[in-house]
Amino acid sequence: TAVQLALTQVVGAYAIAVLDRNNPDQIVAARKGSPLVVGIGEDEYFLGSDATPIIEFTNRVTYIGDEEIVTIRRGEALKIRTITNIEKTPRIQKLEMTLSQLEKGGYPHFMLKEIFEQPHTLSDCMRGRVNVEGNNITLAGFIDNREKFLNARRIIITACGTSWHAAQIGMYAIEEYARIPVEVEYSSEFRYRKPVIHKDDIVIAISQSGETADTLAAVELAKNAGAFIFGICNVVGSSIPRNTHSGCYTHVGPEIGVASTKAFTAQVAVLTMLAILIGKEKGTVSREEYLNLIRELNLIPEKVAEILKKSGQIEQYAKTFTYAGNCIYLGRGYNFPVALEGALKLKEISYIHAEGYPAAEMKHGPIALVSHEMPVIVIATQSDTYEKVTSNIQEIKARKGRIISVVTEGDQVVRGLSDFSVEVPETLPCLTPLLSVIPLQLLAYHIAVVKGCDVDQPRNLAKSVTVE
Ligand code: AGP
Repeated sequence: TAVQLALTQVVGAYAIAVLDRNNPDQIVAARKGSPLVVGIGEDEYFLGSDATPIIEFTNRVTYIGDEEIVTIRRGEALKIRTITNIEKTPRIQKLEMTLSQLEKGGYPHFMLKEIFEQPHTLSDCMRGRVNVEGNNITLAGFIDNREKFLNARRIIITACGTSWHAAQIGMYAIEEYARIPVEVEYSSEFRYRKPVIHKDDIVIAISQSGETADTLAAVELAKNAGAFIFGICNVVGSSIPRNTHSGCYTHVGPEIGVASTKAFTAQVAVLTMLAILIGKEKGTVSREEYLNLIRELNLIPEKVAEILKKSGQIEQYAKTFTYAGNCIYLGRGYNFPVALEGALKLKEISYIHAEGYPAAEMKHGPIALVSHEMPVIVIATQSDTYEKVTSNIQEIKARKGRIISVVTEGDQVVRGLSDFSVEVPETLPCLTPLLSVIPLQLLAYHIAVVKGCDVDQPRNLAKSVTVE
């Protein structure tokens, strides 16, 4: 009762566990805004903000709802009440996560393990969705809400950080294939800027953790405005999937490294599948195009595995890179968000300042920074803007910039202009990000290791940003 009364006066988000010196066999815990999970073991309970650290002891968990108070007493069943004293029945779930998924499995860091898991995580993400016969894509969250997607006036995608970069790629794919206008919003801006939301808008919220406070608030805002909310999340049972109307899990298993890698590629895969599916149902994607997209999607995991073989080569180059204090990443079209993501990876874990730009924006300002001291990383895979990107590279070369490029296998022109190149297999432009981001993840990883940085837990960063 004391906790209940106190919490009625607490302002803002919290997750709290309270112990009473005179009642040592009891813990009272509550949450609002921040996540709280109780693990139920044999004669023992665990409290955490996420199920990951609990799984070592038990796979039975219950997620505590907003403004709920859980009472844990030795030898007794859990009791849940709301702050306003309404009794609730605990909903106990069995998690499928295994301990081996939470171990490094021989890799020096979780981030490297997660980068190398991507051929499998992409297959897992597409399993049961893209059929192996290569003639169909199914997404349960789409089928159940087909009419809403087909009649959507607009799609708004809201997310933060790496998930926001995936959203940008989703915008390119949905507009190209489904021909629905898309807007991509930073959740932190969207939630406060009084956006215009219509009842026939679809809001897609993307979040690996499913607990990002700003994205959760953006979901609430859009829901209150009457929009249909679709979540793309990784952590099963987390707050965002529980607060959306429908959605799609990415199924990549727990991501432990603070720098997101395998969750990003799976988010891009889900958005691409969704774009193709809406397009096929709307008739904006022809049967021939549809089959070709499916065929290429099915080849992505093995192409990612091919790129991973170049990790040693990228590691060697990383050793010559640590002099850099600043870097620019350039890309166009589908590779522009990849440039943003590559720059974010580098700054997160190596503390080197890096910025991503659309390649053609160089001459509108950033080119002033180029000198022999500044590496420029250019994603220049084959596309209809390849020639334009080549001329951007020539401009950088003329100013003595050092070029690292990601190119399509067999490329001659950009390779010839670069100090260092990594080849990726050929694919369709909309699928390029799934390949071109891999060398950038590896580059950031190896540079951070050479610099002696704590790759899995970079300074000042948290895996789940559950506060504003
Ligand atoms: C990714 O490398 C970052 N750690 C960060 O930008 C992250 O993507 C962001 O905080 C959003 O997290 P979410 O996907 O769990 O919502």
